[in-house]
Amino acid sequence: MELTNKFILDACCSVKAMWYNKNHPNAVYIDIRKEPSGFLGYGRKEELNPDYIMDFRKMDFPDNTFKLVVFEPPHLSKLGKTSYFRKKFGCLNAETWQDDLKRGFSECWRVLDDYGTLIFKWSDSEIPFQKVLNLIRENPLFYNVTNNKSTSVTKWFCFMKIPIANGGTNFTSAFDDGCKLGREKTLKEIEDKIQTIFKEELGEEKRLGQYSSAQDISNKTLKRFHEWLQQEVSGANKNVIDKCILNGDAI
Ligand SMILES: C[S@@+](CC[C@H](N)C(=O)[O-])C[C@H]1O[C@@H](n2cnc3c(N)ncnc32)[C@H](O)[C@@H]1O
Repeated sequence: MELTNKFILDACCSVKAMWYNKNHPNAVYIDIRKEPSGFLGYGRKEELNPDYIMDFRKMDFPDNTFKLVVFEPPHLSKLGKTSYFRKKFGCLNAETWQDDLKRGFSECWRVLDDYGTLIFKWSDSEIPFQKVLNLIRENPLFYNVTNNKSTSVTKWFCFMKIPIANGGTNFTSAFDDGCKLGREKTLKEIEDKIQTIFKEELGEEKRLGQYSSAQDISNKTLKRFHEWLQQEVSGANKNVIDKCILNGDAI
């Protein structure tokens, strides 16, 4: 796979409707399918022609590859088999969409470089923004606000992958480093454990992205997670866990 001078990833490009230059030389476009010109019907000429047919839930790119990742997955789960919207934008699987988006976001974050930007685009015509944001362990930096409550709206959420060692306040980096060291634990097992510890320590349940500041994540809480990883995850590299998870100053 040739990635020289490729700094930008579109993780599900469809017909690249939002792109100014639909073949930007520094971008890599992926989608789960390819469709010929005219596939939309109605005399339209668009084609769906990604550089690689790839699943955003399991990408073939190395960690930290891109400076900018844009992620606009399908927004709708209730579409007829032959609907125009399904053809153009794809369709969420009504049974698995939450897990699919979670995995997609996690992969986007993995292939994003440190200090890289992730743009997540969502329209709330069927599923509210908060329901989707609850699947994401990070908090956005900002998004476009609107007062228009009468119709569905599209929002662009901007995230940055700031490493914890450089003052980042996001918990995912530490969390993911812990997970990488403990491949035999599933992400779900580790996530559940963290939630349990946080709930016990803080007495209330929040989603992971909300435990992101020094006030929320006490050293005591992190120490408990650290100790659990040390006990449960064989092969864990103590130095890295210490650096990433126990560094109260950094968090
Ligand atoms: C809302 S459209 C993207 C629109 C695009 N941003 C544009 O400007 O035209 C979502 C796309 O995600 C693709 N998709 C759905 N599931 C996917 C997956 N698991 N991996 C990669 N692409 C996927 C669909 O095929 C569809 O083309």
